[in-house]
Amino acid sequence: MERTQIQSYLNLNKERFLSELLDLLKIPSISAKPEHKSDMLKTAEAIKKSLIDAGADKVEICETKGYPVVYGEKIIDPDKPTVVVYGHYDVQPADPLDLWDSPPFEPVIKKTDIHPDGAIFARGSCDDKGQMYMHVKAFEIMMKTGTLPCNVKFMIEGEEEVGSPSLGPWIIENKEKLKGDIILISDTSIIANDIPSIDSGLRGLAYMEVEVTGPNRDLHSGVYGGAVANPINILCKMIASCHDENNHITIPGFYDQVHELSNEERAEMAKAPFDLDVFKKDLSIDEERGEKGYSTNERTGIRPTLDVNGIWGGYTGEGAKTVLPSKAFAKISMRLVPNQSSQTISELFKKHFETIAPNSVKVKVTAHHGGEPVVVPITSRGFISASKAMEETYGKKPIPTRSGGSIPIVALFKKELGMDSILFGFGLDSDALHSPNEHYGLFNFYKGIETIPLFYKYFTTK
Ligand code: BES
Ligand code: MN
Ligand code: MN
Repeated sequence: MERTQIQSYLNLNKERFLSELLDLLKIPSISAKPEHKSDMLKTAEAIKKSLIDAGADKVEICETKGYPVVYGEKIIDPDKPTVVVYGHYDVQPADPLDLWDSPPFEPVIKKTDIHPDGAIFARGSCDDKGQMYMHVKAFEIMMKTGTLPCNVKFMIEGEEEVGSPSLGPWIIENKEKLKGDIILISDTSIIANDIPSIDSGLRGLAYMEVEVTGPNRDLHSGVYGGAVANPINILCKMIASCHDENNHITIPGFYDQVHELSNEERAEMAKAPFDLDVFKKDLSIDEERGEKGYSTNERTGIRPTLDVNGIWGGYTGEGAKTVLPSKAFAKISMRLVPNQSSQTISELFKKHFETIAPNSVKVKVTAHHGGEPVVVPITSRGFISASKAMEETYGKKPIPTRSGGSIPIVALFKKELGMDSILFGFGLDSDALHSPNEHYGLFNFYKGIETIPLFYKYFTTK
């Protein structure tokens, strides 16, 4: 009965829901770039308006030390459970712009092999405006059809893509306001559109920057080359030494805290369907690569990693300039698994790089933002409710999976607010998040809107 009501409201309003999302995607809310400050505030205003229109009360733009959090709530009965929805309205920078087939902030709908019904191509379409907006529209449907079964609070932040530096302090100051029973987040992926899944964990992150200094100025690479340490050569060597021949990370103590899964748990994980050929084809690679002894899903789900995210120094302009650079830099991320600690791993990394640097250079290591790994108990009421909701709309039980990505604030939700999070993502890993031509399937957008109200229903009914 309720499901039909929800579906018919959705069918009648499909076009409007989509056009509202497209309007949101037109605003370049890039949190990493200060020149987009006014776009950030404009996006926060637009979300505020959408929450008011959908029927939320006490909607406000809450100032933080950084970009604001948009808050709104609907309390129908203090004795009923409260779902706290989290999402983010900031997006990653869109560059390299020349690799986009259409401008990143001028959304277009195109069909693809994986999305035969069409997908919205725009920065933030999947991560996370499209997924966050599903919650606003699901809430609108429940409000307008009189089917909202419990209380709801929205907390939509603008700094996730830069590590949520202001949200941590903000939730600590607003514990009373945020009181609830579960955090609901759509900012992850499912295995495929016909294979629903729910993440039961996220990796943590330690993000480092290394600066290697050789001579006090750039030198003629012929006059001095061979007699002075080249900081780029040295940095490359240091980075290369971080993995052994089995792709094991060599930083002393790196694996000490890693929670190893039992054989039973690994066998359970291996049941999730995974097509290596599709994976390789999507990325145009001939062979996968990773830590020896682990499957691809394990390598991204339950094992920690170390990857260079950017490296620079010396001459990179057109043509040739014979120069032996004074400095070399790298940004290096480490993805962490339970029970590693971002702080401990950052310290081990720093100590290791300072130790392995030869005397011919100076090395400076700084830590950027980080975040702790999380696991969501799959036997919890929240997880089971999410599972039932998906089973109903997909016609199949979702498979519990481990995500390789990170949402740093989730560990703090548990630590500071005492709430578990349900990672109710509807995107696909192949949707090109953070890459050129990011997209989000229309199927996924509408399926999410249809499924979310069922989560509320199952979470509320005893
Ligand atoms: N939504 C992603 C994380 C994600 C993506 C999880 C796909 C699971 C599947 C989030 O916006 C993100 O990009 N997080 C960053 C965190 C960082 C900027 C602190 C990440 O994982 O790199
Ligand atoms: Mn995201
Ligand atoms: Mn992201």
